[in-house]
Amino acid sequence: MVTKVKKIVFSGIQPTGTIHIGNYLGAIKNWAELQNNPDYDCIFFVVDLHAMTVPYDASNFQATIYNAVLDNLAAGLDPKKCTIFIQSQIKEHSELTWILDTLTPLGELQRMTQFKEKAEEQKSEVNAGLLTYPVLQAADILLYKTDFVPVGKDQEQHIEFTRTLARKFNARFGEVFKEPAALIPKAGAKIMSLTDPAKKMSKSHGPESYIALFDSDEMIRRKIKIAVTDSGKEVRYDPKNKPAISNLITIYHLFADQPIKEIEKRYAGKGYADFKKDLAEVIIDYLKPLRQKRERLEKNPDYVKNVLEEGRQKAQKIATATMIEVKKKTGLI
Ligand code: AMP
Ligand code: TRP
Repeated sequence: MVTKVKKIVFSGIQPTGTIHIGNYLGAIKNWAELQNNPDYDCIFFVVDLHAMTVPYDASNFQATIYNAVLDNLAAGLDPKKCTIFIQSQIKEHSELTWILDTLTPLGELQRMTQFKEKAEEQKSEVNAGLLTYPVLQAADILLYKTDFVPVGKDQEQHIEFTRTLARKFNARFGEVFKEPAALIPKAGAKIMSLTDPAKKMSKSHGPESYIALFDSDEMIRRKIKIAVTDSGKEVRYDPKNKPAISNLITIYHLFADQPIKEIEKRYAGKGYADFKKDLAEVIIDYLKPLRQKRERLEKNPDYVKNVLEEGRQKAQKIATATMIEVKKKTGLI
């Protein structure tokens, strides 16, 4: 009997204390769908080492990491269908980063969009980790011989960088790594800020700019109500001329699972206020079961601990095997 080799799907999220609907629609929702595909072996992880490149509170870090795991489980990751682990528990991520660092031209890192944006935001706290962030991300992905990386649009450049590094390593030392492809969703790949539709939704632009996955119903109603809109009053999808309302329509489309055309038709002749009122309820209805799931998980720390231990063991096996190959090829053993 021939057993089919499954494709590896691999992705991660930073533990920063808040997961917003941009993270959910751009990434986690798709992870939860991919894990049901029998052709894929899905691995998801919480990238605590990456989160250390921005100012963070060490005394709370363990709780923040644990909460990120709860958030992802509540958002639909099912440990029976995928592997979940924490990045820093597998030391090979750091080890491979060093080796890949030696193959990475400095100029390439300095030109990365995320680095330039964060360096601008952080000014006095631009550490070397912020610069080499994409190398650690490449190490994450390559360690697991990943085929597909489901991420939002903002990560596309990092995946391209990973492909380049894989090619470079293989050409120089011999074939070890696969060249992964980014899986970017057709809709939701870049959910925009509620207060400024020219910027992507992000935790760093203030709580009114995003809806957290576990915001209260009241908060969701308020944030949608005060979300900026465009001039005019027509509920029409036109990202170029009506970026704010188009962003809200995309959110409605994805949470209600209804075609954009249908949404436009329903609100023809009505104003923004009617649309926004319904949008808030659509989001609230969708997120309710996720909140309930999270409450159940909070009462069950042993279960979560177990999930992470199983995930760690599975990840460790793969990481160890790849690292032996890497060390042989590079002359370290
Ligand atoms: P991060 O919180 O930066 O670790 O991002 C986790 C995942 O969410 C990544 O796959 C990002 O590409 C995705 N993501 C972050 N912000 C957005 C956004 N505003 N719209 C869509 N996807 C996003
Ligand atoms: N840089 C990604 C983000 O900010 C998180 C990440 C780290 C990641 N390592 C990864 C995503 C490996 C996919 C694969 O969203």
